[in-house]
Amino acid sequence: MLSSLLERFRFMRDIKLFSLESRFLGVDIGSASIKVAQLKKERERALLETYGELSLARYGDGVVGRSARLLDAKLTEALKDVVRESQVKAEKAIVSIPLKDSFLTTMELPELGEEDLKEAVPYEARKYIPIPLSEVVLDWRVLPPKNEERQAVSIGTVKRKFQTVLLAAVPKESISKYNTIFNNAGLEVAAFEIEVFSFARAALRRDLGTSLLVDIGASSIKLIIVDGGAVRASHSFDRGSQELTLALSQSLGVDWDRAEILKRESGIVRRPETEGTASVLEPLVELWVSEGERFLLDWRRRGGGSISKVLIGGGGALLNGIVDLFVKKFGVEAFTVNPFSKVVYPAFLEPKLKEIGATFTNAIGLALREF
Ligand SMILES: Nc1ncnc2c1ncn2[C@@H]1O[C@H](COP(=O)(O)OP(=O)(O)OP(=O)(O)O)[C@@H](O)[C@H]1O
Ligand SMILES: [Mg+2]
Repeated sequence: MLSSLLERFRFMRDIKLFSLESRFLGVDIGSASIKVAQLKKERERALLETYGELSLARYGDGVVGRSARLLDAKLTEALKDVVRESQVKAEKAIVSIPLKDSFLTTMELPELGEEDLKEAVPYEARKYIPIPLSEVVLDWRVLPPKNEERQAVSIGTVKRKFQTVLLAAVPKESISKYNTIFNNAGLEVAAFEIEVFSFARAALRRDLGTSLLVDIGASSIKLIIVDGGAVRASHSFDRGSQELTLALSQSLGVDWDRAEILKRESGIVRRPETEGTASVLEPLVELWVSEGERFLLDWRRRGGGSISKVLIGGGGALLNGIVDLFVKKFGVEAFTVNPFSKVVYPAFLEPKLKEIGATFTNAIGLALREF
């Protein structure tokens, strides 16, 4: 289990080359829908074999696009259904753990040898993790130098005396809950990964600069800072795309389904015919941006550099006009993530995958873990 909550270490990846496994299934259980993606490894390329999304609405209270609190048995049923409907062939899954069910933080430790570090980390971790260590699965890795440090070291102006350790913990209870759900659905869990790592893997290209990644889900938004090719900071808050639908439904006096359609059609683009929806939605999206600005401020206060771009994913990233708003507010370039650009797929799928790509960021990122 160790080293499975975080990104896989590179040496682990090399060992994997000898493995016979050639199919990788990523399963992202979001609050509004389950997303699956199955990749096949062929001559080091990732071929898209299948993908699918299943709204959890009909397993809970019946409303598409809204988060559903489900009983474990219902989740098992949904998982079985999405696997069947998407014709998934893999027997093992790589599974996402929501950031809000995890503790993820960094700590500064003196440069220590590997053995000393193994002792020091759990000891120090007690100060950061609010529940007893015996109740969590703990994982950690030493982060590579930040981009700025890397440059400073290479020109010889800075010598590192401290190292940054990324620390992750997930309650054992959540892990065993997911294990049971998957086993009951006929799948084995090959690995768990906190969702921000899968997101970063699917969103980033070979890029060592500082980026802000934003995963806009139905009920929570995840903010991630990536620098020097590693996740450095993250934050999850309880806002998301479903509140846009709710606001439209209330202010325009239409039912949920109609409001969901209006949201997807109009977004926050200011045109005469969309003015009504945009004026309801934009202030809410601006609140998300201000949470992002606070997060960045905190990152800078702790010595981080400024960001050079923003990458937006999750279903909420498909909102028309959101990229332009992010460019305006953050003053850097912004893009919608298309995780499918990292895999090989039949040409006829192109328009569809471009349209829905952002929704599958985590699922593709999970499946790409072993590549
Ligand atoms: N084309 C679109 N335009 C605007 N919003 C969209 C579009 N498509 C999907 N959404 C919204 O995206 C949200 C679902 O996103 P996603 O699938 O990333 O959420 P989730 O992973 O289930 O939730 P969470 O990450 O909060 O647990 C829904 O609120 C849905 O209304
Ligand atoms: Mg999500």
